[in-house]
Amino acid sequence: MDIVEAIQQRKSIRAFRPDPVPQEILKEILELALRAPSWANTQPWEFAIVAGEKLEEMRQVFVEKAEEEHNPDIPRPREFPEPYDTRRRVLGRKVLELKGIQREDKEKRRWWLLQGLRLFEAPCVIYIYIDRSFYLQGDGLNIWPIFDCGLVAENIMLLATKYGLGTIAQIQAVVYPDVLRKLLGIPDSKLIVLGIAVGYPDRDDPVNQLRSEREPLDNVSTWYGFD
Ligand SMILES: Cc1cc2nc3c(=O)[nH]c(=O)nc-3n(C[C@H](O)[C@H](O)[C@H](O)COP(=O)(O)O)c2cc1C
Repeated sequence: MDIVEAIQQRKSIRAFRPDPVPQEILKEILELALRAPSWANTQPWEFAIVAGEKLEEMRQVFVEKAEEEHNPDIPRPREFPEPYDTRRRVLGRKVLELKGIQREDKEKRRWWLLQGLRLFEAPCVIYIYIDRSFYLQGDGLNIWPIFDCGLVAENIMLLATKYGLGTIAQIQAVVYPDVLRKLLGIPDSKLIVLGIAVGYPDRDDPVNQLRSEREPLDNVSTWYGFD
C-alpha cells in the first residue's frame, strides 16, 4: 500500500471486531512509527500497549468511573470558538445519525458515551505518554512533545491501515489517567497524552461508513510567490 492509499483509507473506526491483533504486527507498526520526526530528535514518546484481560479490567474501571469528572493530563479545550464548534457539532450529529440515536434519547446517548470509554470494544489500545518534566516547565508549558506525539500517532494510524487494521485516536481513552497509571504501573512522572484504539473494523456497523468532512484547501491556504 502506498502513502496516498493509506492516507485515503485511514479514518476513525468506532466499532471493532473482537479478533485479537497479533503482537508481531503491533511491533512492526511501532518500530516503523518510531521514524517520526521530533524536536531535535528528542523522541519524547513512550508507549504502553494493552490487550486481553488487562484491557477488560481497564474498560470496567472506566465505565464504573463514568459519572466522575474527566481529568486528562493534557486538558481538553476550554471552549470551541467558531468555526471549530460548528465542525465539532457536525461530526457529533453524523455519528449519532449513523448509530440511529436521537438527540433526545438520553439513555442511548449515555450508552454511546460508555462505548467511547470502552474504546468501542477495540481488542487493543496503544497509550502514548511523555515525561512530565519535558511538558511542565516552570510555570509554563513546552507543547512540543505533544506535537511530536501527534506525528508518531499519525504514523501508527497510517501503518495500521496497511495491515487492514482500524484505529481511532481517543481522548476518551485517557480521561482517567490515574487509573491507567495505577493499573499499568506508569509512574507519576509521566503524563498520558493519548490512546489509540486498534483492531479490525466491524464493517457491518454503519458508524464505520462515516467519512468526515474537510474544509476545501482554498479556504485554509494562501499561496505566495507562485505567480
Ligand atoms: C487528539 C484526538 C483525540 C480524539 N479523541 C476522540 C474521542 O475521544 N472520541 C472519538 O470518537 N473520536 C476522537 N477523535 C477522532 C476525531 O473525531 C477524528 O479524527 C475526526 O473527526 C476526523 O475524522 P477521521 O479521523 O475519520 O478522519 C480524536 C482525534 C484526535 C486527533
